[in-house]
Amino acid sequence: MTLVIADYPREHVALLRLNRPDVRNALNPELRAELRDEFDRLSDDKTIRAIIITGNSKAFAAGADIKGMVDIGAGEMMARDDERNWAAIRNCRKPVIAAIDGYALGGGCELAMHADIIVAGESAIFGQPEVRLGIMPGAGGTQRLVRAVGKHRAMLMLMTGETMTAAEAFDAGLVSKVVERDRAVAEAIKIATSIAAMPPLAVAEIKQVLLAGMEVNLDTALMLERRAAYLLFETEDKRTAMEGFINKNKPTFSGS
Ligand code: CAA
Repeated sequence: MTLVIADYPREHVALLRLNRPDVRNALNPELRAELRDEFDRLSDDKTIRAIIITGNSKAFAAGADIKGMVDIGAGEMMARDDERNWAAIRNCRKPVIAAIDGYALGGGCELAMHADIIVAGESAIFGQPEVRLGIMPGAGGTQRLVRAVGKHRAMLMLMTGETMTAAEAFDAGLVSKVVERDRAVAEAIKIATSIAAMPPLAVAEIKQVLLAGMEVNLDTALMLERRAAYLLFETEDKRTAMEGFINKNKPTFSGS
């Protein structure tokens, strides 16, 4: 069975759907490896300009597969080298949009936080309940959550396993947009289509500078921003876009 189904709902847009519905899309090693392969493939695919990742209406993903973890120790966890799976998503230069309905828990919430934009249906539930299993997040669940929602809300969620609704997650800054139940994918496709119509090099630089800038001091981040902003003046798409504005026509961009 294919654990990650790839679809292409619009030109330049890829949609990846996690496909273990019987276990709320729990992330087992096979699914993680398929996800890595898909991200590697789509990162290299020059026709793709935006990637959506989603689950189903009950769950985006309920986290790591607990049944596959109960008997394993630290050595096996290290040998699984899950980091290379996450790295494929983290290093993806294309914009990534997570479309969430239902549960995004543990590794599922961490997966959502790997995305650049998170669209949540009203039914979405976010949480890092690892503490209840005697463990803790290991793929950014402490670090990305604190950056998204701040120390005090992150500590509460991480230490108690308490979850957030879509509306709470939006108020806290974890989610980009909340839409009606089961409308997250439709909204994500709309956003992805709009991003795919933008000059791809500008989109890629915005993503890279924003993420890199979060890790360094403000002066360095501003220098990165300036350099990237100036560099974009060398692109063909900058001329196409500006001439399009001046001549009142709708330009299409080549990505060069
Ligand atoms: N791993 C394995 N199986 C899971 C699972 C998971 N994370 N989450 C759900 N399932 C399975 C259930 O065992 C159940 O299987 P059976 O039908 O064979 O009993 C099936 O999915 C449906 O689950 P529920 O009956 O519990 O469905 P629900 O709608 O009542 O509840 C839920 C859904 C709230 C997500 C609940 O299943 C749940 O709490 N799941 C565990 C969430 C969790 O603790 N995630 C963190 C995992 S650790 C982690 O992610 C960190 C890491 O990377 C190491």
